[in-house]
Amino acid sequence: MKFFVDTADTAEIEALSRTGLLDGVTTNPSLIAKSGRNFLEVIAEIARLVDGPVSAEVVATGADDMLREAAKLLTLGDNITIKVPLTMDGLRACKTLSDDGVMVNVTLCFSATQALLAAKAGAAFISPFVGRHDDVGFDGMSLIQDIRIIYDNYAFDTEILVASVRHPVHVLQAAKIGADVCTMPPAVIRALANHPLTDRGLEGFSADWAKTGQSIL
Ligand code: E4P
Repeated sequence: MKFFVDTADTAEIEALSRTGLLDGVTTNPSLIAKSGRNFLEVIAEIARLVDGPVSAEVVATGADDMLREAAKLLTLGDNITIKVPLTMDGLRACKTLSDDGVMVNVTLCFSATQALLAAKAGAAFISPFVGRHDDVGFDGMSLIQDIRIIYDNYAFDTEILVASVRHPVHVLQAAKIGADVCTMPPAVIRALANHPLTDRGLEGFSADWAKTGQSIL
């Protein structure tokens, strides 16, 4: 499973990139607003920091304007993926861009039939939002399961990019289903490494090592 980080915080991206665990980055207009930075500048900086796909979202709602915005965003780096919303205009823009060889991430997906449309439009990634699904009383992971079945039935190569991830259990469930990518806030990526028994074990080993009075170096 690929790991993307869902943030526009370049310090976080740089730190996570150094771990070698990061396969890409997703952003959205809300994350850009949170960063307080210029959209084009921050996307260009992120594209330099990571080798993998960097999703930059259009803000227009009409297909023609989306395509104009996409053309500008694509100048910011060779690894820019254009993120479009799952609307009929977004799908039209997705088809045009993917026919031109551009990677497209179709976002704000809340049903398996929406995901089917995105695959037919040639999306490189579909972003189903599991956390927002859970928030309103639905089971976000059953959506991932349904999309996996449909994409496998027809051998679509659109990657399932699990979005709106809130905690490590979402990542566990997505991996068991066979989702291709999880995009996570930095805190969730770090939480994946945490276990109280690891901490306790390390404390014990360190204390016992100190008793030996030895040093490796
Ligand atoms: C995905 O690309 C979105 O940016 C993101 O995962 C949305 O997450 P949220 O529901 O926590 O805002």
